[in-house]
Amino acid sequence: MGKLVSSWSSVQNLPEDYSFRWTIPVIDLGEGSHDRAGIIQQIINASQDFGLFPGLCKILAEITVINHGVSGVLMDETMSVVKEFFNMADERRADVFTDDHTKSCRFRTSSTNYATEETHYWRDFLRHPCHHLEDFIHLWPQHPTTYRDVVGKYSVEVRNLLLRIMELMSEGLGLEPGFFEGELSDDLLILTNHYPPCPDPSLSLGLPKHSDPNLITLLLQEHVYGLQVYKDGQWLGVEPLPNAFVVNIGYQLQVVSNDKFKGAEHQAVTNSREARTSIGAFMGPCNNCIIEPAKALITEDNPPHYKAFNTKSFLKITWQRLLVTQKLHCWLSMF
Ligand code: OGA
Ligand code: NI
Repeated sequence: MGKLVSSWSSVQNLPEDYSFRWTIPVIDLGEGSHDRAGIIQQIINASQDFGLFPGLCKILAEITVINHGVSGVLMDETMSVVKEFFNMADERRADVFTDDHTKSCRFRTSSTNYATEETHYWRDFLRHPCHHLEDFIHLWPQHPTTYRDVVGKYSVEVRNLLLRIMELMSEGLGLEPGFFEGELSDDLLILTNHYPPCPDPSLSLGLPKHSDPNLITLLLQEHVYGLQVYKDGQWLGVEPLPNAFVVNIGYQLQVVSNDKFKGAEHQAVTNSREARTSIGAFMGPCNNCIIEPAKALITEDNPPHYKAFNTKSFLKITWQRLLVTQKLHCWLSMF
């Protein structure tokens, strides 16, 4: 029985020739590699097909170049400081540990009903808002002592990259320049996930199947396999690439684009051998912003597929749906 593929759904390291491991389309955002129109076309093709793509960060050493790439050094430093946080003694991170969902900075675990839950969610996470930095940074963890400095710089750089991607998206959709600036992109949440080695990956998931509810997400994943995307009825493993971000299209972008862009469903699986850390930067609108299909995209032949929502109720409905479809005991355990 152990040989049945159905009992493999959560294993790490499938055989090399196994088609489930997959390199999702890579878009090279480095200037000079393609013209702007070429980059936009690639993004559109990849996004429509998968709802998810990694933007390869070309910059690496030339970290101060105004090619707008996030520096490879900063990406490594951020991953290190986040991993340090997850490996620290509990007393040093007690300042942010909480189950109180009214606190915007929360460090907590996802398996709160271990005895009764159907699937164990094998994940600890830390989440906090980042924009505007001066409003939130004092709420972030005090340890490691470099955390605020490093993650603060990182959040500013990823925000710039996200805005740049959104600008390409809006051009690709035929919307006016700057369409996504301002209210629609005023919120940035950093959510760091830590998946410790799991004694039995077949009984657990890191994160359940979901689409990100926000506008757009940049995910930095450690070089350990764990992210899977659902495409054509099967789960495909997303190969972690060095110095790359996975870009996830969120529900809100799906709505604004009136389904021109689709959010891909994805999940995180665990493994029994090594811990895995990922860092998501979730961009979205401020709380009272109205989310609706962009008026410029609506014609007689292309009527709106969604009605207008305010962000707060949009998120509430989205989470409730996830709660029901994924049989989650507590939606708060995801974010
Ligand atoms: C998320 C997410 C995937 C991962 O945080 O929304 O999808 O690989 N994370 O951690
Ligand atoms: Ni996600």
